[in-house]
Amino acid sequence: MHIRTATLNGVQAIEIARPEKKNALTVEMVQAMADALNAARADKAVRAVLLTGQPGIFTSGNDIEDFMQRRPGEGGADPADAPVFRFMRALLECDKPVVAAVTGAAIGVGVTLLLHCDFVYVSDEARLAMPFVGLGLVPEFASSLLVPQLMGQRRAAEKLLLGEPFTAEQAVDCGIANAVLPAAEVVRHARRVAERFNALPPGAVCEAKRLMRAPQREQVLAAIRSEGELFSARLRSPEAIEAFTAFFQKRKPDFSRF
Ligand code: COA
Repeated sequence: MHIRTATLNGVQAIEIARPEKKNALTVEMVQAMADALNAARADKAVRAVLLTGQPGIFTSGNDIEDFMQRRPGEGGADPADAPVFRFMRALLECDKPVVAAVTGAAIGVGVTLLLHCDFVYVSDEARLAMPFVGLGLVPEFASSLLVPQLMGQRRAAEKLLLGEPFTAEQAVDCGIANAVLPAAEVVRHARRVAERFNALPPGAVCEAKRLMRAPQREQVLAAIRSEGELFSARLRSPEAIEAFTAFFQKRKPDFSRF
């Protein structure tokens, strides 16, 4: 299985483990992550969740081949029922603290999911990017709302319209991450932070987290819905098909005919 889960010292670890494909997330993997988050939420023994990847790679985002073959909303199905949206809801609804250890490159949903974690620690070797537009897509997971809020429209435009990659230091500077750690330290440090919740009262922690998220909850859900509709439609667009085809043919996409 490409998603490994383990509960240890009150921490539910969810590890993305598909290094041969740069931890690209298939439909099965996002479903497994949603299930693990929902299980963590329901398990009284779990005080916090730790989300990690592999050395050198956190995740390269959604699996592009899956996207071409199993698009959310295919065959008239409601895109909101697609596993990727179930995963988004599970992360949003997780009222226990979620700590992310960004062990390496984070791309696409690998970055946008961080916007919904409570603590984010990034390896000094990591590069992050949200290349949705370059793939013929639009930002997702409320990133069109939260990224401009976090860092202002100017810096958000660099990351969301140009899809410019950014460093771990820049991720801290623009409010996406808490701290940069040496690559060999990032998981250990994130786990130590997650384990601190063993010494705190769980009811107060969950209610504080809910309060911190409540003012924006409806806006975030509305953004996820409207982005999701556009994103699903754009997966079928000639622009996206050209971008995905170019990725697998290991060439630059050519958008000159659009
Ligand atoms: N979906 C599907 N397959 C992916 C993938 C993704 N998101 N990311 C990487 N892979 C696959 C590659 O196709 C390749 O498969 P192959 O060995 O069968 O050819 C393998 O993983 C290794 O990737 P490769 O690109 O050769 O590694 P790299 O070290 O040169 O580059 C990345 C790593 C992450 C920078 C690069 O793979 C990348 O840009 N991936 C796409 C990221 C992306 O656009 N994600 C957004 C999706 S919405």
